[in-house]
Amino acid sequence: MYAILQTVHSFWAYFVLLLLLVATGNALLGRAQNKDFATRDLRISLFGLIFSHIQLLIGIILYFVSPWFQQWSQGIGAVMKDPTSRLYLVEHPTTNILAIILITMGWSMHKRQNQDVKKFSRIGIFYGLGLILLLSRIPWQSWLG
Ligand code: HEM
Repeated sequence: MYAILQTVHSFWAYFVLLLLLVATGNALLGRAQNKDFATRDLRISLFGLIFSHIQLLIGIILYFVSPWFQQWSQGIGAVMKDPTSRLYLVEHPTTNILAIILITMGWSMHKRQNQDVKKFSRIGIFYGLGLILLLSRIPWQSWLG
């Protein structure tokens, strides 16, 4: 169970980051060029939303089955003192949950706008901020190393 989830979470991360990058770039470009918000733009943003929500669900289950979770038995002080346990058990989950909240807010706010330029900016700003947060707390060394 753990091995499968870890592999899927690690692999799915490529799709999530790539889709969010494309969705953010597409929205900022659409905003800058004053384009119409077309079905294609809706689809790109929706895919970014769905893929990141799936990653969130996988991450939450992985959290409890990962060997890292055992570290909590050492106490909160020990977890916080060790930079790697802190990253896996505290920083990565909280920052990424916050990032997904921002992305979800961007999606719902874009739907309430009537002007295309505003739709693009809600997606561009909120997806962009979410992406920056995600990138800031990826365990890069174990992922790509
Ligand atoms: C939604 C955006 C997320 C992305 C893009 C993401 C990405 C990643 C990546 C790239 C790794 C490293 C995998 C490896 O070393 O091969 C990782 C590990 C991990 N993630 Fe996430 N993650 C996300 C959300 C979450 C959430 C919300 C949680 C928990 C609530 C979580 C829990 C974990 C855990 C526990 C590990 C370590 C697994 C282990 O090596 O035992 N992730 N994540």
